[in-house]
Amino acid sequence: MAKNEFVEVAKVHEISDGKMKHIEVEGKEVLLANIDGKFYAMSDRCGHMNALLSMGNLKGNTVTCPFHGASFDVTTGKKLSEPILTPPQNMEPLPQTWQKFFENVGQLMSHIKTLDQIVYETRVDEDSIKIKI
Ligand code: FES
Repeated sequence: MAKNEFVEVAKVHEISDGKMKHIEVEGKEVLLANIDGKFYAMSDRCGHMNALLSMGNLKGNTVTCPFHGASFDVTTGKKLSEPILTPPQNMEPLPQTWQKFFENVGQLMSHIKTLDQIVYETRVDEDSIKIKI
Protein backbone atom coordinates (compact mmCIF):
# COMPACT_ATOMS: atom_id res chain seq x y z
CA MET A 1 0.00 0.00 0.00
CA ALA A 2 1.24 3.47 -0.90
CA LYS A 3 2.00 5.83 1.97
CA ASN A 4 -0.19 8.83 2.72
CA GLU A 5 -3.44 7.12 1.80
CA PHE A 6 -6.67 6.97 3.75
CA VAL A 7 -7.28 3.45 5.07
CA GLU A 8 -10.49 2.17 6.62
CA VAL A 9 -9.83 1.26 10.24
CA ALA A 10 -13.27 0.92 11.84
CA LYS A 11 -16.98 1.41 11.34
CA VAL A 12 -18.74 4.42 12.87
CA HIS A 13 -21.06 2.28 15.03
CA GLU A 14 -18.07 0.55 16.69
CA ILE A 15 -17.04 3.65 18.70
CA SER A 16 -19.78 5.46 20.56
CA ASP A 17 -19.51 9.07 21.73
CA GLY A 18 -16.88 9.51 24.45
CA LYS A 19 -15.26 6.11 23.79
CA MET A 20 -11.90 4.96 22.42
CA LYS A 21 -10.75 1.96 20.42
CA HIS A 22 -7.30 0.47 19.86
CA ILE A 23 -6.52 -0.48 16.29
CA GLU A 24 -3.43 -1.72 14.49
CA VAL A 25 -2.76 -0.73 10.91
CA GLU A 26 0.38 -0.75 8.78
CA GLY A 27 2.43 -1.77 11.82
CA LYS A 28 1.18 1.20 13.85
CA GLU A 29 -0.88 1.11 17.05
CA VAL A 30 -3.52 3.81 16.90
CA LEU A 31 -6.10 5.15 19.34
CA LEU A 32 -9.39 6.13 17.72
CA ALA A 33 -11.67 8.37 19.74
CA ASN A 34 -15.19 9.64 19.22
CA ILE A 35 -15.64 13.11 20.70
CA ASP A 36 -19.09 14.57 20.16
CA GLY A 37 -19.52 12.52 16.99
CA LYS A 38 -16.18 13.55 15.49
CA PHE A 39 -13.41 10.97 15.14
CA TYR A 40 -9.76 11.54 16.06
CA ALA A 41 -6.73 9.30 15.70
CA MET A 42 -3.35 9.43 17.40
CA SER A 43 -0.59 7.05 18.39
CA ASP A 44 -1.85 4.67 21.07
CA ARG A 45 1.59 4.35 22.66
CA CYS A 46 2.14 6.92 25.40
CA GLY A 47 4.92 9.42 24.72
CA HIS A 48 6.32 8.66 28.18
CA MET A 49 6.90 4.90 28.47
CA ASN A 50 4.71 3.35 25.78
CA ALA A 51 1.63 2.28 27.75
CA LEU A 52 -1.56 1.87 25.73
CA LEU A 53 -3.47 5.13 26.11
CA SER A 54 -6.70 3.48 24.93
CA MET A 55 -6.66 1.57 28.24
CA GLY A 56 -6.73 4.90 30.11
CA ASN A 57 -9.57 7.36 30.64
CA LEU A 58 -11.10 9.76 28.14
CA LYS A 59 -12.84 12.85 29.46
CA GLY A 60 -13.77 15.45 26.87
CA ASN A 61 -10.71 15.86 24.65
CA THR A 62 -8.32 14.58 27.32
CA VAL A 63 -6.96 11.07 27.55
CA THR A 64 -5.10 10.11 30.74
CA CYS A 65 -2.46 7.39 30.60
CA PRO A 66 -3.23 4.34 32.77
CA PHE A 67 0.45 3.95 33.73
CA HIS A 68 1.67 7.22 35.28
CA GLY A 69 -1.17 9.61 34.56
CA ALA A 70 0.30 11.86 31.84
CA SER A 71 -2.51 13.42 29.82
CA PHE A 72 -2.85 14.38 26.17
CA ASP A 73 -5.31 16.28 23.99
CA VAL A 74 -6.72 13.68 21.59
CA THR A 75 -7.58 16.36 19.02
CA THR A 76 -4.01 17.69 18.74
CA GLY A 77 -1.75 15.05 20.34
CA LYS A 78 -0.29 17.72 22.62
CA LYS A 79 0.82 16.74 26.09
CA LEU A 80 -1.37 18.44 28.70
CA SER A 81 0.26 17.21 31.89
CA GLU A 82 3.38 15.36 32.97
CA PRO A 83 3.43 11.85 34.47
CA ILE A 84 2.96 11.49 38.23
CA LEU A 85 6.20 10.14 39.64
CA THR A 86 5.47 9.96 43.36
CA PRO A 87 2.92 7.83 45.25
CA PRO A 88 -0.23 9.69 46.33
CA GLN A 89 -0.03 11.49 49.71
CA ASN A 90 -3.00 9.62 51.17
CA MET A 91 -1.53 6.18 50.46
CA GLU A 92 -0.73 3.78 53.34
CA PRO A 93 3.00 4.03 54.18
CA LEU A 94 5.02 1.48 52.23
CA PRO A 95 7.65 -0.84 53.77
CA GLN A 96 11.12 0.77 53.75
CA THR A 97 12.43 -1.42 50.90
CA TRP A 98 9.49 -0.45 48.67
CA GLN A 99 9.89 3.25 49.54
CA LYS A 100 13.53 3.05 48.42
CA PHE A 101 12.49 1.23 45.23
CA PHE A 102 9.88 3.87 44.35
CA GLU A 103 12.33 6.68 45.11
CA ASN A 104 14.84 5.14 42.68
CA VAL A 105 12.21 4.55 40.00
CA GLY A 106 10.89 8.10 40.41
CA GLN A 107 14.40 9.51 40.09
CA LEU A 108 15.10 7.49 36.93
CA MET A 109 11.76 8.44 35.41
CA SER A 110 12.34 12.12 36.09
CA HIS A 111 14.94 12.01 33.28
CA ILE A 112 12.51 10.55 30.73
CA LYS A 113 10.88 13.17 28.53
CA THR A 114 7.21 12.80 27.74
CA LEU A 115 6.61 13.59 24.08
CA ASP A 116 3.53 14.83 22.26
CA GLN A 117 1.59 12.15 20.40
CA ILE A 118 1.61 11.66 16.64
CA VAL A 119 -1.85 12.38 15.23
CA TYR A 120 -3.40 11.05 12.04
CA GLU A 121 -5.84 12.81 9.75
CA THR A 122 -9.27 11.15 9.85
CA ARG A 123 -12.18 11.05 7.45
CA VAL A 124 -15.62 9.45 7.57
CA ASP A 125 -17.03 7.98 4.36
CA GLU A 126 -20.61 6.84 5.01
CA ASP A 127 -20.11 4.28 7.83
CA SER A 128 -16.32 3.92 7.46
CA ILE A 129 -13.75 5.68 9.61
CA LYS A 130 -10.56 6.17 7.65
CA ILE A 131 -7.17 7.50 8.70
CA LYS A 132 -4.30 8.76 6.60
CA ILE A 133 -1.35 6.51 7.27
S1 FES B 1 3.63 5.44 30.27
FE1 FES B 1 2.13 6.97 30.09
S2 FES B 1 2.54 8.31 31.74
FE2 FES B 1 4.07 6.82 31.87
